[in-house]
Amino acid sequence: MIERLEALRAEGIEALTGAHDADALEAWRLRFLGPKGKLKDAMTAFAGLPKDQKAAVGQRMNEVRAALEGAFSEKKASSEGAASAGPVHDVSEPGLVRSEAVGRKHIITRVRDELVDVFARMGFDVAEGPELESDENNFVKLNIPADHPARDPADNFYVDDPRGTDRPRMLRSQTSTVQVRVMEAAVRAGGGRLAGPVRVVAPGRVYRPDTVDATHSFMFHQIEGLFVDRGVSVADLKSTLASFAHAYFGPAAQVRLRPSFFPFTEPSAEFDMKIRLREGQPERWIELGGCGMVDPAVFEACGIDPEEWTGFAFGFGIERLAMGKYGIPDIRMLFENDLRFLSQV
Ligand code: DAH
Repeated sequence: MIERLEALRAEGIEALTGAHDADALEAWRLRFLGPKGKLKDAMTAFAGLPKDQKAAVGQRMNEVRAALEGAFSEKKASSEGAASAGPVHDVSEPGLVRSEAVGRKHIITRVRDELVDVFARMGFDVAEGPELESDENNFVKLNIPADHPARDPADNFYVDDPRGTDRPRMLRSQTSTVQVRVMEAAVRAGGGRLAGPVRVVAPGRVYRPDTVDATHSFMFHQIEGLFVDRGVSVADLKSTLASFAHAYFGPAAQVRLRPSFFPFTEPSAEFDMKIRLREGQPERWIELGGCGMVDPAVFEACGIDPEEWTGFAFGFGIERLAMGKYGIPDIRMLFENDLRFLSQV
């Protein structure tokens, strides 16, 4: 019996060296240590031994079982270790598709691009001007005289003290400044006179020390439009703005011009659109901006002959347009940069 046990130990250890994976190890375990395995057979034979042999054989049987179990768990641990330390890159794996979180354009930037696009289709070029402007371009050349309340230092972000210098600078309060720049540049290009029509839109930031609330901010965006040609009329202004509203808000958009006053246009109007700002609320008219026929005094300030040229201009608030189009109830949402909001619009 002792020899049989030693043979079993040798056979088991020998067989274990040939078991290289989890399946082979499990088959080995069943064959030697399992409930119907070889050790079990030996134990059955042990039961039939005469009493005087039992002590010695029993002790040897325990040793053989411990040796086989020990060898087994050692082999198992080392083969698992080998498996986990295996090749890091399995070249047969399909390529990993990894998507990085990609940002996107801010809603105001997208609306600005959309607006520029709509006007580009109507033949408007894009112009730009600086945010730090002379008060001459922001006011004087736009026919806003020195005593006009719009020039009150409390209502503007002056960079220089307007009482201390002749040409104070300020953060522009309107993109109408770009009208002046575009017309002056066109006159310069024409060698001192306007040589042809002008048709531009100018989007950009403007600044006013307004108290922040749901519809006001100290910084916001406007898009200015200017059309100068021979024989431009109010009908051109109306039809351009209606085409714009229908292109941007859809054919059902209702718009109206409401008589108003701006120093740089005559006649002047407010441009309103009927819109539902919040689900469940009634539609109401909201003011998108101002417009009118370019005042002859503005043409003259820019070196353009008002007897030869006429034109219209408009200036809209981009935030207002964005809020109307995307149903945004509060302008502050556009500037808080809360990703939960930005990823929705
Ligand atoms: N600049 C005006 C404002 O900020 C808006 C405006 C009104 C622009 C009439 C124009 C215009 O070009 O013709 O309130």
